[in-house]
Order: sequence, then structure tokens, then C-alpha cells
Amino acid sequence: MDMASTLALALAFLSFFAAEAKIVEHTFHVGNLTQRRLCEEKVITAVNGQFPGPTIEVNEGDTLVVNVINESPYNMTIHWHGIFQLRSAWADGPNMITQCPIRPGNSYVYKFNVTGQEGTLWWHSHVSVLRATVYGALIIRPRGGLKDCPFPEPDHEVPILLGEWWKADVVELDNQAFLRGQGFNSSDAYTINGQPGDLYNCSRKHTYKLKVVSGKTYLLRIINAALNNQLFFKIAGHNFTVVAVDASYTKPYKTDVVVVSPGQTVDVLMVADAAPGNYYMAASPYISVGPQGPPFVNISATGIVEYLPVDDSSAPVMPSMPPFNDTPTAHRFFTNLTGLLKPGKPTVPHRVHEKMFFTVGLGRNPCQPSQTLCNRTRQAISASMNNVSFEFPTTVSLLEAHFKGANGVYRRDFPRRPRVFDYVNATGTLPLALQTTLKGTRVRTVKYNATVEIVLQNTAFVGIENHPMHLHGFNFFVVAQGFGNYNATAAKRSFNLVDPQVRNTIGVPTGGWAVIRFVANNPGVWFMHCHLDAHLEFGLAMAFEVENGPTADTSLPPPPPDFPTC
Ligand SMILES: *[C@@H]1O[C@H](CO)[C@@H](O)[C@H](O)[C@H]1NC(C)=O
Ligand SMILES: *[C@@H]1O[C@H](CO)[C@@H](O)[C@H](O)[C@H]1NC(C)=O
Ligand SMILES: *[C@@H]1O[C@H](CO)[C@@H](O)[C@H](O)[C@H]1NC(C)=O
Ligand SMILES: *[C@@H]1O[C@H](CO)[C@@H](O)[C@H](O)[C@H]1NC(C)=O
Ligand SMILES: *[C@@H]1O[C@H](CO)[C@@H](O)[C@H](O)[C@H]1NC(C)=O
Ligand SMILES: *[C@@H]1O[C@H](CO)[C@@H](O)[C@H](O)[C@H]1NC(C)=O
Ligand SMILES: *[C@@H]1O[C@H](CO)[C@@H](O)[C@H](O)[C@H]1NC(C)=O
Ligand SMILES: *[C@@H]1O[C@H](CO)[C@@H](O)[C@H](O)[C@H]1NC(C)=O
Ligand SMILES: *[C@@H]1O[C@H](CO)[C@@H](O)[C@H](O)[C@H]1NC(C)=O
Ligand SMILES: *[C@@H]1O[C@H](CO)[C@@H](O)[C@H](O)[C@H]1NC(C)=O
Ligand SMILES: *[C@@H]1O[C@H](CO)[C@@H](O)[C@H](O)[C@H]1NC(C)=O
Ligand SMILES: *[C@@H]1O[C@H](CO)[C@@H](O)[C@H](O)[C@H]1NC(C)=O
Repeated sequence: MDMASTLALALAFLSFFAAEAKIVEHTFHVGNLTQRRLCEEKVITAVNGQFPGPTIEVNEGDTLVVNVINESPYNMTIHWHGIFQLRSAWADGPNMITQCPIRPGNSYVYKFNVTGQEGTLWWHSHVSVLRATVYGALIIRPRGGLKDCPFPEPDHEVPILLGEWWKADVVELDNQAFLRGQGFNSSDAYTINGQPGDLYNCSRKHTYKLKVVSGKTYLLRIINAALNNQLFFKIAGHNFTVVAVDASYTKPYKTDVVVVSPGQTVDVLMVADAAPGNYYMAASPYISVGPQGPPFVNISATGIVEYLPVDDSSAPVMPSMPPFNDTPTAHRFFTNLTGLLKPGKPTVPHRVHEKMFFTVGLGRNPCQPSQTLCNRTRQAISASMNNVSFEFPTTVSLLEAHFKGANGVYRRDFPRRPRVFDYVNATGTLPLALQTTLKGTRVRTVKYNATVEIVLQNTAFVGIENHPMHLHGFNFFVVAQGFGNYNATAAKRSFNLVDPQVRNTIGVPTGGWAVIRFVANNPGVWFMHCHLDAHLEFGLAMAFEVENGPTADTSLPPPPPDFPTC
């Protein structure tokens, strides 16, 4: 055999092994970490002394095993945001939904297969508001590596994690907001890869820098890990080509601005084709609340794209950011994306078995005795879906109760439809009776493999707002989106039943609606909730109970031996 064919054989051998599914193992020590930001030092909760936490990299088909050791003073869980968890619902992570928390001093091994999805996802704590600092990227490459992505192979990959920073302790804020009823304080800064950037005081050293080489292509894996804010993202002097969202490929879409809701990810290709120099990348808030929103920080987080060789003498060019309330720009981005059709990939189901209509929005409830800071005419903010404000169970997780057939933990009567009213009219005074939410732990049960269509309708109580609704355990097709009250007759004309975008988190247009479809092919209990943490804690959530299929392969296996108990 000559040298060339030996080499070819060796390479074929290597790529054969590269394509073999492997086991990827990590250990997460969750504990205290002291960080300096915005002129002050503070103790945060973080993984392995890193903020943001470690990036997990796998190939599709791999098994991921993460031993989470809780050395923090708080109850902990980790959610693998967007991972299907096919038949591994026990590893999904939402506190009291699929597991009891990992108590301080305890550990739990999350073990699951990463099957049938490629792109950018992330992991984060799913207890209280600890995900403010407990988060990191989860990158899934095709089995054969990046070259097998359905777009030209980039030269470099760069995670861009957008977040928020509070000077105050987030757990203290949480207690103040929900136990004492004051509402959640706005953050003090937005961040890019944990750094606010030099538009903030004392932050020159806390500025993320991306060094680039002229002519090279960068795959930016943009993740919105912020607790409570949707964000615009731009880089001065550069355009993007969107190639995926929420680990689902899109048809290439050119844009100079990306909009990303908490929970969502956007993969873009950026070519370093500008004149050599320094350019700001910036993240600024998209505040969709009308007519009057809560206070928010009005300074962009920035990072600097530096062309090599670095020339510090020129100040970075700043992109012009959209106004904070630029709903048309947000809506254009959110609706212009379409899914990439690939052989072997599921397409949008045309036949629907279960049609549901859920209102999503805020409301008010009488202050509780503990809520000493609750003050607006003795009404505390609440949030609900179909007027039910979700209450977490306290003694056993929903999944365990489902698996064991335990009674009295949840009810199966989550309303199929809401009461009918003019959902989006913020000008009129909506009757208090409609604003007052019920409370409860109610789920909707669906048959294995049923095709579910949900209309998500925003309501105008307290204020209209774009709510990023996240569904655990599934991707869904975004069939249509619009403003106003949903009108089935009119909306059907705009249904995309050919190449809709596929997501795990949908920003329901402010004062509007979205229609999503998914196939319930994953047995277990799956949380659906607003990914603005403040709203989740106010109760903007429900859960689906998906029954087992006919075979062992389509049924939920028992929990692992180290499964945490309450
Ligand atoms: C971790 O930080 C918290 C909050 O600041 C503090 O109460 C606790 O004592 C710290 N624990 C350790 C082990 O340092
Ligand atoms: C994960 O994949 C492995 C290997 O294919 C398989 O043995 C195992 O049953 C899978 N686990 C689950 C939960 O599907
Ligand atoms: C939240 O903001 C209010 C009003 O500005 C302030 O009084 C309170 O101390 C803040 N909470 C924390 C935990 O910093
Ligand atoms: C930055 O520092 C200056 C001077 O101390 C102060 O006036 C200003 O309010 C600070 N800005 C922010 C956003 O904290
Ligand atoms: C970005 O795209 C727009 C629209 O195609 C174009 O006008 C603009 O020149 C492009 N900017 C850069 C920096 O390539
Ligand atoms: C945000 O800041 C800009 C410039 O500093 C100012 O023009 C604008 O009015 C501010 N917006 C809000 C909502 O504070
Ligand atoms: C993009 O969005 C704009 C504004 O919503 C709309 O006018 C346009 O038709 C959309 N283009 C595509 C290709 O969907
Ligand atoms: C309660 O409301 C009054 C009147 O709106 C206001 O002056 C006061 O500061 C509020 N108290 C708290 C604790 O928010
Ligand atoms: C909103 O409600 C008010 C008061 O009920 C009514 O006068 C107004 O016509 C409504 N607006 C719309 C757009 O329906
Ligand atoms: C689930 O539905 C798909 C098509 O929608 C079908 O191919 C598959 O056989 C079904 N599985 C079961 C177990 O019913
Ligand atoms: C719904 O849309 C249809 C078709 O556009 C229209 O005829 C009908 O009046 C609308 N219904 C309402 C309640 O607006
Ligand atoms: C931690 O979890 C345990 C078990 O579920 C629960 O009893 C306890 O109240 C939780 N602690 C906090 C501070 O939420």
C-alpha cells in the first residue's frame, strides 16, 4: 500500500471513530465564587469557579453524564435547556417538576442521550433565580463534526452568552419580590460572556474581547441567559447570516440585528470583512411592555471585536441599537425566520389531535400576610395561563407523582380554554374578577404521540408584554404569529405548514398570539413556562403529562438510583 492510501485509510478509520457515539463526562462543583463587577465585589453561585460556567461540547448521538455536586448553600438543580430528554425525563432538571432539588452537600448524576438535535443549547440552574449566575453553553455538533452542518464550515466558533448582573444578592431579591411582595428589581447591567463592558463604570477590565482575522468566518452561538430581559444584539460594521435558532437549522437569513428572548439561542455566521479596526458588539434591552413598563437599565452591554494585529489606538465603533421599544424590528426578526428542510427531519404535522388555547399574562391577587411590601391597592402581581397561577408541589415532584400514581399532588384539569373576553384591550378597564387568578397545580394530560396545537394568547392585564414561552421535552413548529386577539379564520391564511421555524422557546408577540405544534412523542411530565424568571415565580406556567406509549421503548423508565428525594 502506498503512503497516500495508507493515509486515506487512517483518515477513514479516524472519521469512523469520530462518528461513533461516545460518553462525555463532566463534574460540576456548584459553590460560592467572589466576583468584582460595577465597582463592587460580590459572592455569586457558580459552577467550577467559572462564570459563565463551563461549555459542554458533544456530538449528536453522544451520552452526556454530569455529576452535579452541590457545595452551595442553596437547593440546586440543573436544566439542560432544549434537550429532548427522550425517555430520560428524570434528568430534565426543573425543581419540583421532574425532581426534588439536590440539597446542599448532596449530588446527583444527570445522564442522558443527546439524540436528533444539533446546534446551540445551554444549561442553567432551575431553582429560584439562581440561574442568574449558574449557566453555560451546551454545544451539539453533528456526528461527523462541524463540516457536516448545512452551511459553509466556519473557521471559528464563539459562544456569546448574554446575561444580567445585579449588585444585590439575587436570592435576597427573590425573597423580597415573592415572599414580601415587592416585585423584582431591575438588574444593574447586561453582560456579554459575564462582562458588562466599558460603557459601565469601573468596567474597562470587565469587557469581553473577540480577536478576529480578516476574511475568516465566525460562528457566533448567541444565547440569552438573562433572567428577565429580551435583548437586541448587533456588531458595528458587520452583518450576520442566521443559520439556526434553538438548535434547529434555519434557511440562511441575512440581518444586521439579532433579537433573542431569554431561553432562546441564535447561531449566526459573521465574516470578518470590515476594514481592520475595533468594533463594539452590543446587547441592549427589548422592552415590549405597553403602555408603561417597569424600570430598566438603559446602557448596552458591550464587547470588542478586535482585528489582528490589535491596534488599541482607535476607539471601537458603536453600532446604532434599536430603541428599547422597537417591536417592529423584533417582530420582523422573529417572524422572518423559516426552518431548513432536511431529509429525515420531521416536518410540521398537518393533522392535529389536540387543539388548545392558552392565555398568557399577568394578573393581580390580594396580598398575602407575609407580603409586607405588597402595596398596590393591596394587590400583588400574579401571573397565569388560562387564569390558573401555577403552584409548585412541595412534597414530591410532579414526575415522581406521575410515575408512582400518587394522588393529591396535582390535578388533571388545567383548562382547555380560557374565559372569553377582549384579551388585548389595554385601554379599557378589565374587570377585577378576570384579573384575579386561581391558584393551583394543574396539568393537561395528552396521549403518547398525539399532535398538539396550542394558540398562545397574550392578555393586557397589568400590561401587554412579549412572554418567551419555553416548552420542556420537545421542539415545536411555530406555525403563525400575530397581534391582537387571535381570530382562527383570519390566522389560518397565514399558517406556514411548509417550512416553519422550529424552537423550544417562543416570544409570544406583545398584545398578540402565536400558534405552535408539537408531537407528544416523549413520555413524562413537561413544564411549559414563561422564561422571564420573575413571571415564572408569579405563576406563569403549566405542565403536560404525556402518557406512556404501547411499548417499553415508548414508556418512561424508572428513576435512577441516586434520584434526589424531598
Ligand atoms: C457562600 O455564600 C453565602 C452567601 O454569601 C454565605 O452565606 C455562605 O456562608 C458561603 N458559604 C461558603 C462555604 O463560603
Ligand atoms: C442511550 O443510548 C444508549 C446507547 O445507544 C442506550 O443503550 C440507552 O438505552 C439510551 N438511553 C436512553 C435513556 O434512551
Ligand atoms: C430593590 O429596589 C428597592 C427600590 O429601589 C430598594 O429599596 C431595595 O433595597 C432593592 N432590593 C435589594 C435587595 O437591593
Ligand atoms: C458612574 O459613576 C459616576 C461618578 O461616580 C456616577 O455619577 C454615575 O451615576 C455612575 N453611573 C452608573 C451607571 O452607575
Ligand atoms: C449589511 O446588509 C445591508 C443590507 O443588505 C447592506 O446595506 C449593508 O451594506 C451591509 N453592511 C455590511 C457592513 O456589510
Ligand atoms: C436611554 O438613553 C438614551 C441616551 O442616553 C436616551 O436618549 C433615552 O431617552 C433613554 N431611554 C430611556 C427609556 O431611559
Ligand atoms: C419580514 O418581516 C417583514 C415585517 O414583518 C415583512 O414585511 C416581510 O414580508 C418579511 N419577510 C419575509 C421573507 O418573511
Ligand atoms: C406604598 O405606596 C405608597 C403610595 O403609593 C408609597 O408612597 C410608598 O412608598 C409605598 N411603599 C412601599 C413599601 O412600596
Ligand atoms: C377597548 O375597551 C374600551 C372600554 O371598554 C372600548 O371603549 C374600546 O373601544 C376598546 N378598544 C378596542 C380597540 O377594542
Ligand atoms: C407515532 O406517530 C408516528 C407518525 O406520526 C408513527 O410513525 C409512529 O409509528 C407512531 N408511534 C407509535 C408508537 O404509535
Ligand atoms: C375573523 O376574521 C374573519 C376573516 O378575516 C372576519 O370575517 C371576522 O369578522 C373576524 N372575526 C372577528 C371577531 O374579528
Ligand atoms: C430545599 O428543598 C427541600 C426539599 O424539597 C425543601 O424542604 C426546602 O424547603 C428547600 N429549601 C429552600 C430554601 O427552598
